[in-house]
Amino acid sequence: MELMKKIYDMAKADKKRIVLPEGEEERTLVAAEKIKNEGLAELILVGSEDVINEKAKELNVDISGIEIVNPETSKKTSEYAKALYELRKHKGVTIDKAEKMVLDTVYYGTMMVKLDDADGMVSGAIHTTGDLLRPGLQIIKTAPGINAVSSFFLMEVPNCEYGENGFLLFADCAVNPNPTAEQLASIAISTAESARGLAKIEPKVAMLSFSTMGSASHELVDKVKKATEIAKEQRSDIMIDGELQLDAAIVPKVAAQKAPNSKVAGSANVLVFPDLQAGNIGYKLVQRFAKAEAIGPICQGFAKPINDLSRGCSPEDIVNVVAVTAVQAQSK
Ligand code: ACO
Repeated sequence: MELMKKIYDMAKADKKRIVLPEGEEERTLVAAEKIKNEGLAELILVGSEDVINEKAKELNVDISGIEIVNPETSKKTSEYAKALYELRKHKGVTIDKAEKMVLDTVYYGTMMVKLDDADGMVSGAIHTTGDLLRPGLQIIKTAPGINAVSSFFLMEVPNCEYGENGFLLFADCAVNPNPTAEQLASIAISTAESARGLAKIEPKVAMLSFSTMGSASHELVDKVKKATEIAKEQRSDIMIDGELQLDAAIVPKVAAQKAPNSKVAGSANVLVFPDLQAGNIGYKLVQRFAKAEAIGPICQGFAKPINDLSRGCSPEDIVNVVAVTAVQAQSK
């Protein structure tokens, strides 16, 4: 993908510190060598130094110069435990519990990001989406003005005239099962920011529904209408419109008929789905039927960037997600 090359260049131009809590994992070590050689980020691997060095030797990868931190022996562990206790005591976390929690490498990595010992985190080659998101949601929290962490996919559809010549952002396809109108508005705003910051395109955001501008009435449509109003009110600098059916959002002829006064309809390049069922099914339909490339899910809305990997990821996928996270960190 052409965009990935641009993201690599952006990452190299202002190197950020990215922590990898799955430092003992083999694909992570192969990726670490490439990230180091390409100069995409300053990495911190979490795990046992002995295990990591032994595995790197077996794999014949050179990770010399990359920092390794072991929660079992690090001087920082008790500082992180105390900070975690302060952040979560109102939720019943005791100091004993916090001391145990920070020995978990994902919690340790999350605390590094929280306390500015790292600029971002990438995990998920072994852990589930929930294992990564929960510490992030509990500790990193959302960016100012954003009330929901969400995710998006960069979709590149071959031989396609829609969006930016087949390039679009889809959200939310991985995090919020049933967003409220306020959360849906946040998803729209975050994805517009991601379109500007990461994809370098001017967003035209379509709030998708099974109705176009009042063609159907239902409480599900009302939610999308309300979300559109909230997002428009909060961010007059972003082109957002809805509610729109998918064809009205992307096909100029349909837009001219169904939503003639909309500046977004017919040329949307950011598609906001009304819930996770629609979003997750929607991106997979396009990926499979149209043979589109789908990069993601990329998390957005966190106060500092953390990103998930698929457990079936390749070292190349890890390199890409680290580069994306590093670029997200540049604007924090
Ligand atoms: N934004 C901000 N904060 C949130 C969000 C959100 N979207 N969701 C939950 N939180 C907060 C809660 O307020 C809570 O904060 P608190 O503890 O300080 O009060 C904390 O996060 C934990 O909330 P829970 O409700 O206990 O978290 P939950 O167990 O529901 O987990 C999760 C949240 C992991 C995001 C869940 O919603 C989830 O599993 N989502 C779907 C993930 C998924 O399976 N995706 C599909 C697969 S991915 C793919 O196919 C590409």
